[in-house]
Amino acid sequence: MARYEIKGGTPLSGTVTISGAKNAAVAILPASLLVAGPCRIENVPDISDVRILLSILEGMGADIQRPEENVVIIDCSKVTDTRPNPELVKKMRASYYLMGALLGRCGRAHVALPGGCNFASRPIDQHIKGFEALGADVEETDDYVELEPGPHGLQGNRICLDIVSVGATINIIIAAVLLPGQTIIENAAKEPHIVDLANFLNTMGANVSGAGTDTVKIRGVESLKGGTYAIIPDQIEAGTYLAAAAATGGNVLVRNVIPKHMDCITSKLAEMGAEISNYDDALRIRAAGRLRHTTVKTHPYPGFPTDMQAQICVCMSLASGVSRLTESVYETRFFGYCSELESMGADIQINGKTAIVTGTDRLYGATVSAHDLRAGAALVIAGLAAEGTTWVKNIHYVERGYERLIGKLTALGAAIRRVED
Ligand code: EPZ
Repeated sequence: MARYEIKGGTPLSGTVTISGAKNAAVAILPASLLVAGPCRIENVPDISDVRILLSILEGMGADIQRPEENVVIIDCSKVTDTRPNPELVKKMRASYYLMGALLGRCGRAHVALPGGCNFASRPIDQHIKGFEALGADVEETDDYVELEPGPHGLQGNRICLDIVSVGATINIIIAAVLLPGQTIIENAAKEPHIVDLANFLNTMGANVSGAGTDTVKIRGVESLKGGTYAIIPDQIEAGTYLAAAAATGGNVLVRNVIPKHMDCITSKLAEMGAEISNYDDALRIRAAGRLRHTTVKTHPYPGFPTDMQAQICVCMSLASGVSRLTESVYETRFFGYCSELESMGADIQINGKTAIVTGTDRLYGATVSAHDLRAGAALVIAGLAAEGTTWVKNIHYVERGYERLIGKLTALGAAIRRVED
């Protein structure tokens, strides 16, 4: 195992360039199973979730080239396997997109249930509801999901999701693209990575409209051809660096962002007293004085993202006054990091879906453990802001979603290094 050693107290300053969006990449790579030919995908983040997915696809018979950094050329035309390696599938959450991709490609799949960050119960009943609406027979056990064409075959249908689900929206889009007829997804999620997936599929010849709204329409097409596509920047990685600059009182230019995707995050940090400057594809944050308390309610896009809950909580921990942080997507997400922050001096009272955060003027270095991806990122931010040295353990969680974290933070003046246990 490895850990980060962080010597805190230095305001971050300089420039950081944001990588491709993890949650777009982990949807687009499985979707390449639908394409009859090579796809050149650019701005692919080099993170462990992507490496695992590429290993799974290669194990299924995909031809994968990596001609240069952050570029993947993937050709799934020779794939015959419908049973991706269960040991690898269990290492991450988004492997469940292989269900929709294989259903759409060849009408059948045998996919182990996904693993990934377990900060909450993360059912997939809405994904299954979608597959059944498209005509699939679904067998679900404690270990795997088996999909086959039902008695009437597979065809487009109207599906109204019971809950706004990013994963179910993505999985149904992927499954429906090559099916005859039209599929309409109502109460769909609107995250930027859903729009990115739809744009990728349409670049390859699909007919997906309405992505980014609560109603997505997919008209089935015969086949998809290969092409080139560049993944959007990662709004959560960008938000994480903004929060780190705010928590350390820094001055940072965050490059390669789509400012529109950051609206909720930047407006909250501005409410807390940070000075945000918007450019075409960059943001600058200056946080000279002490942050002020605020209220945050997480919500599906375009609301404040649940994936920024832990990071903004660190900023609240250091702000003047009492902040309120309410979680509306995963009620138990607080438990992934709040006790760790308290061991660094934070004052957080969890009351159901709401955390009451009483700001303190400093945090103190400690040995803490990451329990999921964003909790780990928050502990890194806390270590950067704290007085003294912080050790963050279980950093494999963090490395699932943050490309070149040490290099990017070191370039911003952080004293952080990776140490093998
Ligand atoms: C995606 O997870 C992201 N992961 C998560 O990011 C993110 O927190 C989440 O969306 C919300 O934005 C990926 O994109 C790989 P959901 P997902 O389906 O798709 C419930 C990160 O840090 N639900 O939108 O699993 C669910 O329990 C990760 O990058 C059902 O009840 O999230 C939750 O309460 C962590 N049944 C809510 O819906 C279902 O079938 C939203 O979940 C599906 C979901």
